[in-house]
Amino acid sequence: MKNIIIKLILLIIIIFTPYLQGQSLAVEQKIDSLLLKMTLDEKIGQLVQSVGIKENTIEDIRSGKIGSILGIKSADEVSKFQKIAIEESRLKIPLIFANDVIHGFSTTFPIPLAEASSWNPELVKKSASIAAYEAASEGTKWNYAPMVDISRDPRWGRIMEGSGEDPYLGSVMAIARIEGFQGDDFSHPSKVVATAKHFVAYGAAEAGRDYNSVDISERRLREIYLPPFLSAVNSEVGSIMSAFNDINGIPASANKFILTEILRDEWKFKGTVITDYNSVGELVYHGFAKDKKEAALKGLTAGIDIDMVGDTIDGDVYSPHLKELLEDNLIDISSIDKAVRNVLRMKFNAGLFEKPYVDSTYFVENNISQDAKNKIALQMAKESIVLLKNDNNLLPLNKKTKKIAVIGSMAENEYDQLGAWTCKPNYKNGISALEGIRELAKEGTEVLFARGFDPRSNDKSGFEEALSVISQANVAVVFAGENWELSGEAASRTDINLPGVQLEFIKRAQELETPIIVVLMNGRPLTINWSSQNIPAILEAWYLGDMSGKAIASVLFGEYNPSGKLPITFPRSVGQIPIYYNAKSTGRPAREDVKWSSKYLDSPNTPLYPFGFGLSYTQFKYSNFSVNTSSNSISDSIIVTVDVTNIGKYAGEEVVQLYIQDLFASVTRPIKELKSFKKIKIDVGKTETIKFIVTPSMLSFYGIDMKKIIEPGEFKIFVGGNSTDLLSESIILN
Ligand code: GLC
Repeated sequence: MKNIIIKLILLIIIIFTPYLQGQSLAVEQKIDSLLLKMTLDEKIGQLVQSVGIKENTIEDIRSGKIGSILGIKSADEVSKFQKIAIEESRLKIPLIFANDVIHGFSTTFPIPLAEASSWNPELVKKSASIAAYEAASEGTKWNYAPMVDISRDPRWGRIMEGSGEDPYLGSVMAIARIEGFQGDDFSHPSKVVATAKHFVAYGAAEAGRDYNSVDISERRLREIYLPPFLSAVNSEVGSIMSAFNDINGIPASANKFILTEILRDEWKFKGTVITDYNSVGELVYHGFAKDKKEAALKGLTAGIDIDMVGDTIDGDVYSPHLKELLEDNLIDISSIDKAVRNVLRMKFNAGLFEKPYVDSTYFVENNISQDAKNKIALQMAKESIVLLKNDNNLLPLNKKTKKIAVIGSMAENEYDQLGAWTCKPNYKNGISALEGIRELAKEGTEVLFARGFDPRSNDKSGFEEALSVISQANVAVVFAGENWELSGEAASRTDINLPGVQLEFIKRAQELETPIIVVLMNGRPLTINWSSQNIPAILEAWYLGDMSGKAIASVLFGEYNPSGKLPITFPRSVGQIPIYYNAKSTGRPAREDVKWSSKYLDSPNTPLYPFGFGLSYTQFKYSNFSVNTSSNSISDSIIVTVDVTNIGKYAGEEVVQLYIQDLFASVTRPIKELKSFKKIKIDVGKTETIKFIVTPSMLSFYGIDMKKIIEPGEFKIFVGGNSTDLLSESIILN
């Protein structure tokens, strides 16, 4: 039977390969014939993007001087400008319309860092799919997402936009989002071209200061920052966006090593490379180009196809300078043709030549109701919540609670819960946490509210009223964190404590008899040391989007048992940064009893909350952990099994994580690396046996010569519900 299936699969491959090859061959032939007709201005036009509509945009479209437009968010407007390109330009090359649909188009989903906390890639894919559906229905065909930057520095505001510190989890989330955005074929009416950004190592900005320099070894580049981009390319992402930062002295947007040698030559990427906003022009500010003309030369030569947008001050870079460079014989027409080919290929593959307008019939016939979207957004929000602390099982709230106090401006307003990087938000689609709690509270439960404080101000005038409300209640839920403007782009912080007077209020509240629950709404890990020691229950709720209020209430009342796990380490202090779980051992691993070991005088090395950490209302026991290999050969797979039993009072989901350690190798290796995980629901009293297969490639690493290798030796295999409380077994592989 097995042979028959194998033969059948081979037959299908033989039959379909020519068709698929034929498909791509046909596109290349169409590009060839189009290129032959294009003037130099029309070719350069495909490499220029307009941000919004300026006074000369319509004329530029008509004369083929722009190939894409960023920032138009309605199908009618898109059609208006597309019509000019299709009907009034000489060659009728369609425009492609782009937007940043980072976590939802009009239905706002949790921020990506929150979605990563779900460790549920299938759900994240659904979230991205709905974002694509809504964006495509309004004419957006090119999405500048997913942001796949790894970061180990919570001072950096854009950490909210990625999937945290781990390359494996980051890769899994990158794939899920690209599959959600693009589907199997991004020419489908409800799909968009995805963009993996920001290539590369933008999250390694020194001091966590946005746009700052990056100086890291090729080893760290390949082990930590490149993997999610490689996963994106292997998932056939349609485009890559180059980063603002310089890497080891060469700006990413003029860095031939990453843009050509790695991306094109090593990874065989066939998509389009676009810069981030004006980052070719910024080569001058980097001191890497003496003027915009040299910047254009260096950008194109390194492998930039589209200059996203010229300086809003002194204009575009490619449009005025590429022609000069050609006339001065500093570039060859072939380098322009190569870039134009990449752009035209994206447009052909996006189906824009056949269907340049929104297929409105499709969206009528395949309408997804707002309720259906909200259902997925609500599940996404619930699974993104991380329970950090729950002393004496204070949570879930007792349904018979007579009076619940809800405190904090973020519990009441409809904008903070959406976070940064909203696209075309519909503030009426969601409800606040206060409304969510009121909706779920049982008959006879009174929900009191007082603003108390606002993270945006140091005003304490609301303290007394709020403290009085708390003292009247049986339990208080205090919403603290960061107002949404404190995270996202150009939002780095040197101090990642709760801003303003929030902690002062929490300390005052804690002195009262009423038990306090803190719900955090924030875009980065926060150094909440005092609260961690003194507040009995803490929920990390990030910014959960439209369904935030319902999701937080559902978890508070125990309708949903929290299952989130941290995708990023919470430091005790800024002084520990960068702090991350997959660190090296060093030659002097920290030891309590040894002064001369790698540790601090004023802080433990351990984080406040580790990567992969998250509690549940129930408890899970791990047992019968076994690690088996048939031959102890490095070329064979290892079978890992473990039993997980729900020994508590609530059904719940556990994220069973698998880590490995290569104890001795030809280069130093991390003390552990996440290599797989499984999220599983387990009913009370039940046991599930979880099985992992550790393949040889999961044990591979970049050797001295930066080539992937696997070395025999001793390995440790770990399993557990976070990156520190783990069962482990050693194994020798020859
Ligand atoms: C911004 C961001 C980038 C975004 C682009 C267009 O500066 O860095 O992520 O896609 O500009 O909005």
